[in-house]
Amino acid sequence: MKYFIHFYTINTLWILFGWANPTEFDLDSYKRVIKMSLLFYKAQRSGHLPDTTGVPWRGDSALNDQGQNGEDLSGGYYDASDYVKFSFTMAFTTTMLSWGVISFDEGYRAAGQYENVLDAVKWATDYFIKCHVSKNEFYGQVGDFDIDLEYWGRPEDMNMSRPAYKIDEERPGSDLAGEAAAAFASSSIIFKDVNQTYSKELLRHAIELFDFADNYKGLYQEAIPGAKNFYENGGYGDELTWSAIWLHKATGEKKYLKKAISFYETFRLKERPNEFYYNKKVAGIQLLLAEVTRSSEYLNAVDAFCKYSMVEQTRTPKGLVFIEKFGTLSHAANIAFICLQASELGLNAKYADFAKEQIDYMLGKAGRSFVVGFGANYPKKPHHAASSCPNRPHPCGWKQRTSPEPNPQPLYGALVSGPNKNDYYQDTREEFLFNEVTLDYNAGFQGTLAGLIVRELRRGEVESQTE
Ligand SMILES: *[C@@H]1O[C@H](CO)[C@@H](O)[C@H](O)[C@H]1NC(C)=O
Ligand SMILES: *[C@@H]1O[C@H](CO)[C@@H](O)[C@H](O)[C@H]1NC(C)=O
Repeated sequence: MKYFIHFYTINTLWILFGWANPTEFDLDSYKRVIKMSLLFYKAQRSGHLPDTTGVPWRGDSALNDQGQNGEDLSGGYYDASDYVKFSFTMAFTTTMLSWGVISFDEGYRAAGQYENVLDAVKWATDYFIKCHVSKNEFYGQVGDFDIDLEYWGRPEDMNMSRPAYKIDEERPGSDLAGEAAAAFASSSIIFKDVNQTYSKELLRHAIELFDFADNYKGLYQEAIPGAKNFYENGGYGDELTWSAIWLHKATGEKKYLKKAISFYETFRLKERPNEFYYNKKVAGIQLLLAEVTRSSEYLNAVDAFCKYSMVEQTRTPKGLVFIEKFGTLSHAANIAFICLQASELGLNAKYADFAKEQIDYMLGKAGRSFVVGFGANYPKKPHHAASSCPNRPHPCGWKQRTSPEPNPQPLYGALVSGPNKNDYYQDTREEFLFNEVTLDYNAGFQGTLAGLIVRELRRGEVESQTE
């Protein structure tokens, strides 16, 4: 008890004398940001929007998206500022959000966001069900980048052609089918207690897509060449392994774990990865294998990754882990997600402190926030067409892209690409290296926030017991 009085007295003094550190983040900050992050996903929705609470500037769009045989492909999420619907990164995002719910559902519940995150996942999985038109046929992209890039305006006003591209037996993509299988399998876990029928339906799609990925090997960018310039993927070994483990987690069946371990060997995934990203999933695979098997081989691999990331990885002068200039913050957030879970597995507890440190940098600890709508001096001009548009009926076009004014519609919760390796950052809409926002940038970030909420709650319990 004594300790606490002392602690509070000092804290009060700090506040009285204006020394309070405005960049200390607590339970309440994480709760606010996770709520905003879900609003970002809401702003990215395509198709018919039955509910625009929190994003009143959005409405129905791309209602006529369809497959090559007229199949309804409306729904899903827009990729970023552009209006292409890109199944590979959308599926990775879905798997990551589901993983966050599986590991840290209490965090979502404490923030009052459990229903909202289930809705966010379902918005993607309902779309993926439409994309999976037959067992060995899956739509990987709707919209053409080159056509899309000539448009700057509201999604509701689009009228350009939006071709759809798929993988099938003739032109397979084990990476895309594998990631979609992982998204279906992981989401089926979170819907088990919510809606068994839906959960089973998701699992059926997961199993079929896994078989498709495994039986028809190929890289999806060969079937969907437009993807290569934007979301290239170098190999499908990690997606096959990743999807097999997620199927094991969803079904409990040993055969999928055996598959995962055999892929892990065949594709030589043992080496310590440098990052965890939508096209480089080995760190996530090692963590899942460690969790499922508790074998020292995988535990050591996770430990090596987190130790390297925390101690030896390149950092900016102010302490942000720096992997590359594209999606700087999301790279750090994804590593934080892995290492926070590594500490939960009983590996070094410092990995959780490391995760908090990285997320706190993003929330403003180094002087400014990188999350739209939150904290000190947050980004006002994210590279995002829809939110750059004024209210209707004002027109919207290229003038809005170059306008020096803040985006009229606040894109709450969007995590921007971030600073360069010297912590340098400029809030300019045209510079996507600083201000790009994408579906996958926010995913690992959001899961880590849920984990940090759980951690803060636990610390609160320990404190109240000590009192
Ligand atoms: C598409 O929209 C643009 C501007 O919003 C308009 O000028 C053009 O005529 C439209 N094209 C079609 C085919 O409706
Ligand atoms: C459960 O999911 C099924 C399949 O999507 C759906 O038809 C049904 O309405 C859902 N039930 C509830 C209670 O939401």
